[in-house]
Amino acid sequence: MSPQQRADELRRIINAHNYRYYVLNEPSISDRDFDNLLKELEQIEKDHPELDDPLSPTHRVGSDLTTGFEQAMHIRPMLSLGNTYSVEEVDAFFARVKDGLEGEEFEIVGEMKFDGTSISLIYEDGRLVRAVTRGDGTRGDVVTENIKTIRSIPLTLQGEGWPHSLEIRGEVLLPWKEFDRLNSERAFNEEPLFANPRNAASGTLKLMAPKEVAKRGLDVIFYYVLGDTLPYDNHYDNLMAARSWGFKISEHVRLLHSTEQVNEYISYWEKERKALPVATDGLVLKVNSLKQQLNLGFTAKSPRWAIAYKFPAERALTRLRYVSFEVGRMGLITPVSNLEPVLLSGTVVKRASLHNQDIMQRLDLHEHDMLWVEKGGEIIPKITGVDESQRLNGTKPVEFVTHCPACGTPLVRVEGEAAWVCPNKFGCTPQIAGRIEHFVGRRMMNIEGIGEEMVQQLVDSGLVKDIADIYDLTVERLTSLEGVADKGARRIIKGIEESKQVPFERVVYALSIPYVGETGSKKLARALGDIDTIASTPYEKLVEIEDIGPRIAESIINYFKNEKKREIVQRLREAGVQMAMPDGHDLTLSETFAGKTIVISGTFTHHSRDEYKAIIESHGGKNGSSVSKKTDFILAGDNMGPAKLEKAAKLGVPVIDEESFLGMLPQ
Ligand code: IVH
Repeated sequence: MSPQQRADELRRIINAHNYRYYVLNEPSISDRDFDNLLKELEQIEKDHPELDDPLSPTHRVGSDLTTGFEQAMHIRPMLSLGNTYSVEEVDAFFARVKDGLEGEEFEIVGEMKFDGTSISLIYEDGRLVRAVTRGDGTRGDVVTENIKTIRSIPLTLQGEGWPHSLEIRGEVLLPWKEFDRLNSERAFNEEPLFANPRNAASGTLKLMAPKEVAKRGLDVIFYYVLGDTLPYDNHYDNLMAARSWGFKISEHVRLLHSTEQVNEYISYWEKERKALPVATDGLVLKVNSLKQQLNLGFTAKSPRWAIAYKFPAERALTRLRYVSFEVGRMGLITPVSNLEPVLLSGTVVKRASLHNQDIMQRLDLHEHDMLWVEKGGEIIPKITGVDESQRLNGTKPVEFVTHCPACGTPLVRVEGEAAWVCPNKFGCTPQIAGRIEHFVGRRMMNIEGIGEEMVQQLVDSGLVKDIADIYDLTVERLTSLEGVADKGARRIIKGIEESKQVPFERVVYALSIPYVGETGSKKLARALGDIDTIASTPYEKLVEIEDIGPRIAESIINYFKNEKKREIVQRLREAGVQMAMPDGHDLTLSETFAGKTIVISGTFTHHSRDEYKAIIESHGGKNGSSVSKKTDFILAGDNMGPAKLEKAAKLGVPVIDEESFLGMLPQ
């Protein structure tokens, strides 16, 4: 079998397994066997770059290299749906439909209204060519690379009967489980939380880093097939056909034949939707026949043949006990409402964040007010209003604190933001404890045995006042703490010892430099190589680094201006913590192009020519200046010179486009 044939075969097999796994939820192969197939395909594509295909399943992981979104016009505008909130309004919709169809009988398709962000995918000849967000309904962002990372989306269609030119629309979703995971990670990193899976899904889809998108666990459920040559004359059958082509279609789509059946469908899902793994905010009812849809037509904003039925938002009224002010790792103060416990969507709510001073003032919160708590699509309860009619006589407005509730230091307002911080970085217990908790965390120094409670004990006992003190701990000092036995103490000391091998990029993240997150730390470490260079690089140079914006650059400068911070870094270095990238890190990133000579020609979108030259070298390749027999392939951008193209054809030198080239790089 030729490599070409094997690659085609592997792509077919892998796509089929992806489909079984991500769409049908019926894997028929072990993860390990699947990875082996993928590795074999990767190897073929690496050995034969000319056989690579941007739609190969090996490129699902995404690259970090998207630099901006293009926009594209929608072939057919993406409209929204009219909303209804009661069975009466739904009946009125049926009456309108009946009227519009001059009394003709009609069938209804009932569907979930998934609460994510909509996407339009275009397939030509069964191959995904473009994914566009709704945008303003007429034009949207082209997010194809990000969409390709979603495993349940078929890159090439299976089965038969799909139109040569197909558009399919669906909702990009972040399942509750992934949403919770993402938010707890963000809470830990003190990054702002996503209010609901919808915001998280649309935020994720717009990330400039497909690699990060790939990690987030997005999914898509499709609900609308469009094309001039669809196989069936009704919506339901076309959806089922799309399912056979490899698309994920909700299992809860139903054909409904009477208003009674519609009402049953509504009352069933009003309760049952809570058990679904994804967020829904209602149901959608659609006239099934495409001919009838055409007859009914559209208003300027929405189809006359479909309606959304919105579930009532779940809310409850409860009394405010008091507002507490909590201090985070970076000193940020968050007001939190502490409530009389109230039952909401099956959980007891006792606390809800008030976010910041502006939000608190907008609510005009008074002591012991009755507050509306809402969950709706949001998992984190939210205060949406105050019932002023129940305000008690003589109660005063709740004021934002002026001093740190933990250490008493006057608060400082963050310029340009509604946020207040406690500036007492080294004397304020929750900040110290927060930084230490972050430092020892799994994604940072990963020191086993030191959890939240242990941190509190270490701080309270005065044994640890800053992150460098961790390296002065001994078994004796640890066993002096209440409840710490010899075995536990030894485990901690072992963990501390092992943390000295943690790579430098994670050390940078562990330092808690405000605004420097996990990605920023990696970029800084890789671009500058060691801590002294990071500490001494001027602002103008810092902002040149990818992902380092003005606010982050300023924060890095401020951090290293502080003598105490510099001293801590010095003590960490003396303790043996990694303060530089390993030797030669910046020279070779991989051996992808080892022994290969590559000629660059034309103009590019993602990187400059010089950057491509550097990329080739850092992955072991050589840059050739002219096309010859020795050229392994040409990296061709737009407007490649015709002479070069001709020569390449004559010598049989493969010509690789920019996207395919980027896809060859290790992810
Ligand atoms: S049909 C022309 N079906 O709701 C009608 N939309 O307000 C096209 N949505 O933008 C929409 N689930 O993002 C349809 N089963 C479903 C849906 C659904 C969620 C979203 C979609 C659309 C919005 C309409």
